[in-house]
Amino acid sequence: MLAGKRILLIVGGGIAAYKCLELIRRLREREASVRVIMTAAAKQFVTPLSLASLSGDKVYDDMFDLTDETEIGHIQLSRDADILMVAPATADLMAKMATGQCSDLATTCLLATDKPVMIAPAMNVRMWEHAATQRNLEILRSDGVHVVGPNEGDMACGEYGPGRLAEPAEIIEALSARLGSPLDDLEGPRLAGKTILITAGPTQEPIDPVRYIANRSSGKQGYAIGAVAANLGARVIIVSGPTRLDPPPGAEVIPVETAEEMLKAVQDEMPVDVGIFAAAVSDWRTAGASEQKIKKDGSGHVPALELTENPDILATIAKDKKNRPGLVIGFAAETENVVENAKAKLERKGCDWVVANDVSPSTGVMGGDENTVHLVTSDGVENWPQMAKSDVAARLVDRICNELDEGVWT
Ligand code: CTP
Repeated sequence: MLAGKRILLIVGGGIAAYKCLELIRRLREREASVRVIMTAAAKQFVTPLSLASLSGDKVYDDMFDLTDETEIGHIQLSRDADILMVAPATADLMAKMATGQCSDLATTCLLATDKPVMIAPAMNVRMWEHAATQRNLEILRSDGVHVVGPNEGDMACGEYGPGRLAEPAEIIEALSARLGSPLDDLEGPRLAGKTILITAGPTQEPIDPVRYIANRSSGKQGYAIGAVAANLGARVIIVSGPTRLDPPPGAEVIPVETAEEMLKAVQDEMPVDVGIFAAAVSDWRTAGASEQKIKKDGSGHVPALELTENPDILATIAKDKKNRPGLVIGFAAETENVVENAKAKLERKGCDWVVANDVSPSTGVMGGDENTVHLVTSDGVENWPQMAKSDVAARLVDRICNELDEGVWT
């Protein structure tokens, strides 16, 4: 998905700069072209010669280099790119970006560009956690900048915590998701400043310490919506039951297991602008999970499971007069009478839209990559063709943006 894409890689001055060598190598293996700008500080950590050798191009570092300005110019550098990737994004670079400073070639290109910008922060854990850096991060996110990482782990400075540069593979995945997404015509920070909360995945309701009740939901649809919304600059919070998925770049995932935990996590994040309830929440939990593993007693006696109803997260939030999101979207997983059941759910749960899907085993929707949905609103029903879950996500988020543009909710 990166073949033929042009990446302007801005290397900041941090110990993690060496990982850029591997990043460039892997990008070129995928037939992307890489042009490199380094800051003065970056040269303390990695040499221009190594970067030039791997990228197969000269390295740009001087805004006032006459030859560069006549041949290519700093504005042209970003014009020629499909995306600007800052790695490592130091605290200093982030601060400069957040305040629009342009004191060298790197920051000037970042200010002069109208292309998507992605940053992979890397710094000491205390610098990352400092209120100033977190403030700058929020500003950058609301400007539509995509953020990959940082990861948590041992740091070169001997401390432990978040602040490690995302691995080259993760950066490549984020770039592929951004550049190869079905959203290429859904450009710009259309959701900047908005917070979107998504529930996703199954819940697991314990029977005893080793057994639980769950379902076949993979979480893919909810995560795909999160990826698209984050791409468009939204702050995305995914309250997620157990899944095998990686958090989409730029989204925050709050892991939960049970329906009760999911409700609490969702309520703790309110208010938000849009709530999308894509989780397959277990309707019931055991009336009292056993604290010890339930054993066979050898008599052939089969224990009966007593169930009790779980809270309805969607209905609770949609009917919350104080904290209701401006737009509440539910899903309806049905195996028959899909549209009629979805219309009834729209009414009963008090949401604005319902995305209805047929989850009969023959459709392969549960766990699969495709989905056939109907969008049910108070205006009627739209039948969407079968498409990839990422395309369903793109179309749904596009609809949310249009609703926002029309000022239906604020
Ligand atoms: N939902 C929820 N909390 C629950 C059950 C469902 O938030 N305890 C949400 C789902 O995330 C989805 C919508 O409600 O957005 C509909 O879920 P679905 O499983 O289709 O419907 P149910 O309410 O469980 O009704 P039924 O099982 O009878 O079809």
